[in-house]
Amino acid sequence: MMQQSPYELLGGEKTLRRLVAAFYARVAKDPLLSPIFPKDLALTEQKQFMFLTQFLGGETLYSNEYGHPMLRARHMPFQVTPKRAERWLLLMQEAMDEIGMDGHGREYMYERLTQVAHHMVNAADDET
Ligand code: HEM
Repeated sequence: MMQQSPYELLGGEKTLRRLVAAFYARVAKDPLLSPIFPKDLALTEQKQFMFLTQFLGGETLYSNEYGHPMLRARHMPFQVTPKRAERWLLLMQEAMDEIGMDGHGREYMYERLTQVAHHMVNAADDET
């Protein structure tokens, strides 16, 4: 039995707030990702904070507000190509580096994000 959820192990709200801030600051500047995201990333960042909280075993903040995540369906309006998925994961690693996230918690989180990111792919690279 795990004594702590990954959410707690990683440092809870404080860590996830810092992570999403570092991540979307990079998304905003990224030539491959920024075109498909809104200009104002405040709500996107908040939604991701809520989603990651429940994804890692914290309170079900996202579902309480927005219902079932259905992430693949919610990404269908956007061309998520293999290259964009790899870039998303790279920027997430850079954000983790920036805030000093490490250890087993980081490995676990990154592994699970990798699976979700690949599952989000819904377009071929040559469609963009
Ligand atoms: C929303 C792109 C992977 C979680 C979005 C949006 C875009 C996007 C363009 C809409 C932003 C908005 O309208 O606010 C991508 C791309 C990915 C990716 C290119 C590359 C694979 C992921 C992954 C996760 C995730 C791995 C979760 C671990 C979310 C969530 C939302 C979202 C929770 C908000 C959905 C909503 O309620 O509207 N994503 N995403 N995304 N994404 Fe991703």
